[in-house]
Amino acid sequence: MEGSLTLSEPAPAPAEVDISTLSFPRHVAIVMDGNGRWARARHRPRRFGHHAGQKAVRAAIEFCLRHGVRALTLFAFSSENWRRPKDEVGALMELFLKALDREVDELHGHGVRIAFIGDLSAFAPALRERMLAAMEKTRRNDRLALNVAVNYGGRWDIAHAAKQAALAVQRGELAAEAIDEHTLARYFCLADLPPVDLFIRTGGEQRISNFLLWQTAYSELCFSDVLWPDFDAACLQRAIAEFARRERRYGGLAATPGEARR
Ligand code: IPE
Ligand code: IPE
Ligand code: MG
Repeated sequence: MEGSLTLSEPAPAPAEVDISTLSFPRHVAIVMDGNGRWARARHRPRRFGHHAGQKAVRAAIEFCLRHGVRALTLFAFSSENWRRPKDEVGALMELFLKALDREVDELHGHGVRIAFIGDLSAFAPALRERMLAAMEKTRRNDRLALNVAVNYGGRWDIAHAAKQAALAVQRGELAAEAIDEHTLARYFCLADLPPVDLFIRTGGEQRISNFLLWQTAYSELCFSDVLWPDFDAACLQRAIAEFARRERRYGGLAATPGEARR
């Protein structure tokens, strides 16, 4: 199938670094940015860039499957992206619908568990139903957790978690005094997954744009100038190599005893 996952093919030769020996992130989150600029550079409408971005989505999924990354969370549509022109939003919705129809069976075959995170209530019933069906169909898979953030906002997630906790208090299932960051964490999207180790944003902007706020408290941030449709396995390898160079201290000190740290 054109543009489908190609796991049966041999792994591409590493670009500049041998990443096979590196410590891999368990959970990668990506702000897939730059589709519009990619299209503009080709004198094409913005939707052309969104369409081209699908290839990079497939490459990222394939990369994660190949290297045993447990979770991949992709920012596909933010709660603020409704501000875009109607025809662009419409083109994106159509793209999501078609992608769902085309890709779910194959992803299921590869053991991918698909989840959509965000406020799904805003979507047209046909799209929402397909999203729910994809989640239901793949919910027992455990090779890769693929989370697609749609109508998602980090602030929405925080408000939603707070509301769920408040409702649990109202039902008598949770004592208000017991609410701390550990109990609240259970009500956030992605609570069942390892924390986001590596946060990547393509397209050159260095901001979060209301993506995962709570879940990225100790993520390593990696910004790439490459526009999303051009972000391929070699780019991901570079991000992984960058991640492996980082020293994660979580507010403590370096793991190596006796080593002087500033
Ligand atoms: C990201 O690419 C995709 C979505 C937000 C849906 P953009 O559409 O933001 O592309 P640029 O940033 O305008 O180039
Ligand atoms: C973030 O990109 C949202 C997605 C990639 C889905 P935007 O293009 O919407 O972010 P801003 O507007 O540059 O902050
Ligand atoms: Mg953008």
